[in-house]
Amino acid sequence: MKYEFVPAIEGSRVDHVGSYRRRLPVSLERMYENTLDWQHLPHLHSSSFTSLTIETAGAWGWRATVMSGEGQQAATSLIELNLDRDARRWITRNLAGPHVGAEIWTHVFVVSERVLDIVVDFFVPDVPAEAKVKVGQAYAMSYERLYDEDVEMMTERQRHLDQRLDGVDETQVLDLCSSITATLPQTVTLSGRRFVLNRLDAVDSDEEGQWVVYPARCPHQLGSLAGAPLIDGVVRCPWHGYKFDVRTGACISGSSCQFGRTPKVTEQAGKVTLSWV
Ligand code: FES
Ligand SMILES: [Fe+2]
Repeated sequence: MKYEFVPAIEGSRVDHVGSYRRRLPVSLERMYENTLDWQHLPHLHSSSFTSLTIETAGAWGWRATVMSGEGQQAATSLIELNLDRDARRWITRNLAGPHVGAEIWTHVFVVSERVLDIVVDFFVPDVPAEAKVKVGQAYAMSYERLYDEDVEMMTERQRHLDQRLDGVDETQVLDLCSSITATLPQTVTLSGRRFVLNRLDAVDSDEEGQWVVYPARCPHQLGSLAGAPLIDGVVRCPWHGYKFDVRTGACISGSSCQFGRTPKVTEQAGKVTLSWV
């Protein structure tokens, strides 16, 4: 277990059901980015949230209608998050839904440039004294799962931000044997950048599909596209669900982000070549 659950102290604020504490290997910048990032909730945390409709969002926080669970367990909540950078704190309030009135206060303490301690206090109204520990633990367990997923995203994003290269060495060429067709999709490296090489489904069954090459990292916030299935020429990023047409590089989910420059693929005499020109 990576976290500590601290039950509420008797006589403390009446609706306090407990606290969750954890040390995170991330910077304050990544943490705030994640806090304001409402878009990732139904994608990265798809086991906790089924859908989300945003009402309003800004540097102050966001308010959204969030669906969770399925079938008989399905629930809809109106949630508002307010970030107070001066206090290094954000408060998530349940404005409507099953836990209406519940508040989650998260305080962040900077240990070093890329290490934070977080203390999350759960306040849930109308919980009988004998049920507080159980309710507090349930909140802590769900936060444990959310933070496991978030830490993975934040650290992966940080690693790729650190590795970003300036400019492209356009003289580099990558030659591959055309038997690579048997192991597609393949992640390949050209000029220090990672790309996914794949083939679209052939229109005619007697022919081979068109070669495509696209970045292994999403242009939005560097989520991995390497493992995302290619369906009808479209890949969907697992972090925020943006979809990209790999033939044009355009985002077809309404975002203005798009793939950067990608190499050209040619096939000749049993050789597949990736080059910039
Ligand atoms: S990182 Fe956000 S959609 Fe890919
Ligand atoms: Fe998250």
